[in-house]
Amino acid sequence: MKSIAEFRCTACDHRALKWQGRCDRCGEWGTVAEIGDDATLAAVARPITEIDIESAPRTTTGFDEVDRVVGGGLVAGSTLLVGGDPGIGKSTLMTMLAYRLAARGEPVLYVTGEESAAQVRLRAMRVGALDERLHLLATDDLGAILGAIEATAPAVCIVDSVQTVHCSDVAGVAGTVTQVRAATAALTSATKHRGTTLFLIGHVTKDGSLAGPRTLEHAVDVVLNFDGDRYQSFRMLRALKNRFGAAGEVAVLEMAEDGLVEVPNPSHRFLRGRQRDAAGSVIAPAIVGSRPFLIELQALVAPAPHGAPRRALTGVDPKRTQLVLAILERTAGHALASQDVYVNAVGGLHVDEPAADLPLALAVASAASGRAVAPDLVALGELGLMGEVRDVARLDVRLAEAARFGCRRALVPPDSAKRGPVGVELAAVSSLAEALDLAGVA
Ligand code: TYD
Ligand code: MG
Repeated sequence: MKSIAEFRCTACDHRALKWQGRCDRCGEWGTVAEIGDDATLAAVARPITEIDIESAPRTTTGFDEVDRVVGGGLVAGSTLLVGGDPGIGKSTLMTMLAYRLAARGEPVLYVTGEESAAQVRLRAMRVGALDERLHLLATDDLGAILGAIEATAPAVCIVDSVQTVHCSDVAGVAGTVTQVRAATAALTSATKHRGTTLFLIGHVTKDGSLAGPRTLEHAVDVVLNFDGDRYQSFRMLRALKNRFGAAGEVAVLEMAEDGLVEVPNPSHRFLRGRQRDAAGSVIAPAIVGSRPFLIELQALVAPAPHGAPRRALTGVDPKRTQLVLAILERTAGHALASQDVYVNAVGGLHVDEPAADLPLALAVASAASGRAVAPDLVALGELGLMGEVRDVARLDVRLAEAARFGCRRALVPPDSAKRGPVGVELAAVSSLAEALDLAGVA
């Protein structure tokens, strides 16, 4: 492979085919050194005060939500793993991303090992993603992919999926742990040195991991997960690991007939269709990643027909929920031990922070008592084992989101009830019993 860059700028990591006195990209003098020439590249310790903190340039994808999740755009030469269940929309997301990048003049190579090139073109037509700078290659052969990367020199390369890539030097069929590891290593090094951003699409296996337990997570810079209920239209893209930004950020998208659209105001969309006067429903102002989301917690309590009562929980933390149920049983005297309890965080986001203890308890108490909580009431607070209501982080951000949605009243921990956003009346509650009372579900 003759065209591989053999020189590298030690200041900005720019790659060059021949030696230069001055780096083409950053303009620094005397920083270009031969790759592999360890004497010149040897790390030189420098005073911390002289370390360059200018961060790597980022390429925006044209999807604001995706840019935010990856930490503010794509970092050249980085590798991102995009995991998710089959059918959730990974190929659709990546096709649209590829198009938006190509349309802004960033050449993209899309490798498909799962579908034919014609199928990918059909999907691209459906979502309006045709651009001649978007190149397609249908193959499962690693050598062919590496060749295409050299030939097309893409800014972004997408491999759909990494489980279909076959590496002939390594034993076994595509998709095995050794194959997937070898393919990832080869693709990562081929793209890193030319500053190509590499997306590897991976299917989540039955046990919830990507191509075997933690096989690839350590080998990539960013791990994204794409999920949502396949039978509903919301899709969440989350950063599970991010070397260049905060993990935990979530983008909310919606699968439409002609592709994925960003949901600019998720709280409103999540709460659409909420039954206002139904028992068992309470709004929890949650923080997901760095953003506030209003999430409806729904509970249903029904007599357990026989044996151990069911605890069917979706989108909430099982341990915290058990705890909340135990505290609730003791505080309010609902005989939950003989009841089935169903809890659902509507919309597909996970609410597993302690701040949701109080709204969760209210939802269950409301379901158990058959009395609805006022629709414009929100509640926030961690519950202690004695039923005491404890402080939550970032109360102001949560309340501001609640105010934006038109919530008028908030039950909050005792010390935080000084001042709320305009329009939201704060009621300090020091115990669960007090909260149940104020919410009318005691
Ligand atoms: P796909 O991207 O193929 O999923 P994955 O690559 O994760 O397996 O998309 C799967 C589903 O999305 C498929 O059932 C059809 C649906 N879909 C839409 O609803 N709208 C669209 O515009 C497209 C392209 C797909
Ligand atoms: Mg696919």
